Amino acid sequence: MMCLFAIRAGAALCSLLVLSFSYRGYALSLNYYDKTCPNVESIIATAMKNAVAKDKTVPAALLRMHFHDCFIRGCDGSVLLDSVGSNTAEKDGPPNVSLHAFYAIESAKKQVESSCPGIVSCADILALAARDVVVLSGGPTWDVPKGRLDGRTSQAAETRSLPAPTFNFSQLQQSFSQRGLSTEDLVALSGGHTLGFSHCSSFENRIHNFSSTNDVDPSMHPGLASSLKSTCPINNRPRNAGSNMDPSPTTFDNTYYKLILQGKSLFSSDQALLTSPKTKSLVSKFSSSQDAFYKAFVKSMIKMSSINGGQEIRKDCRVVN
Ligand code: HEM
Repeated sequence: MMCLFAIRAGAALCSLLVLSFSYRGYALSLNYYDKTCPNVESIIATAMKNAVAKDKTVPAALLRMHFHDCFIRGCDGSVLLDSVGSNTAEKDGPPNVSLHAFYAIESAKKQVESSCPGIVSCADILALAARDVVVLSGGPTWDVPKGRLDGRTSQAAETRSLPAPTFNFSQLQQSFSQRGLSTEDLVALSGGHTLGFSHCSSFENRIHNFSSTNDVDPSMHPGLASSLKSTCPINNRPRNAGSNMDPSPTTFDNTYYKLILQGKSLFSSDQALLTSPKTKSLVSKFSSSQDAFYKAFVKSMIKMSSINGGQEIRKDCRVVN
């Protein structure tokens, strides 16, 4: 009763109950598909294993895709919808043009549909896939609360509210707190930057014309700055030039935090985690204990992936029913 009231009031109280993970709207649960689609998790796990065996960039892509889904209208699969007619969808918004591996979610959805048609949302498939790819990269595992619904709205303009790599600490804090996420969540989830790749455009503010007095961000390690400058010259660089997020871009480890302490992280938003004493001490803690990082990451992923929205179970992840 108390829980129902809390959900209606849009409060976070229900998250305190063991099987309820709701921040806005309805509650999610761990056993959601036990009766209606008992094999859903193994179908998705196998689909992810096959996708990753063919393409090692899939884990980074899907982890970031889930984050971008959850930050716009909640985790409702809105990032998976295609643009239609005059409506430009989220996936065609500037921060999302570098998202990829949508096919991996679409193919998992097809396999799930052939076992249990019309039962499992695309948003749940993406949340489960994000967990599976972290595991496949050597990271921690966790139980994913399920029962998300798919949204019917996807607008490129709304992707403007995703955090930018040029953000300072207070901008990052605001972006996360607007979604019910804390500074601890910010530090733990930024650890997703242990996987993957970044294009030059995402960090070029730090290596060319940084300020009126410094060409390069003084908080960046000079060795990294000069190597990034040669990879990313101002003119005539290949469109897909850039850098791996860390030297082990397919392994989910705590190297990211060690790099921040050495001034070797790529984005201003990564380096900004040293700005406040509280976040700086979390960076130090995660750099010295992978276990502490894993525990915090799992807790924050469950929280982020429980931000919900959505109205239907889409049949095809690219189009509304
Ligand atoms: C804190 C705010 C964040 C900012 C400003 C940010 C920004 C970015 C940017 C600019 C890129 C590179 C895009 C490109 O140039 O291709 C990137 C990549 C990535 N981000 Fe974030 N991010 C943030 C948080 C997160 C979170 C919370 C996660 C997941 C938990 C995440 C996971 C990733 C991954 C895995 C990649 C690599 C993608 C790939 O290789 O395909 N990021 N991020």
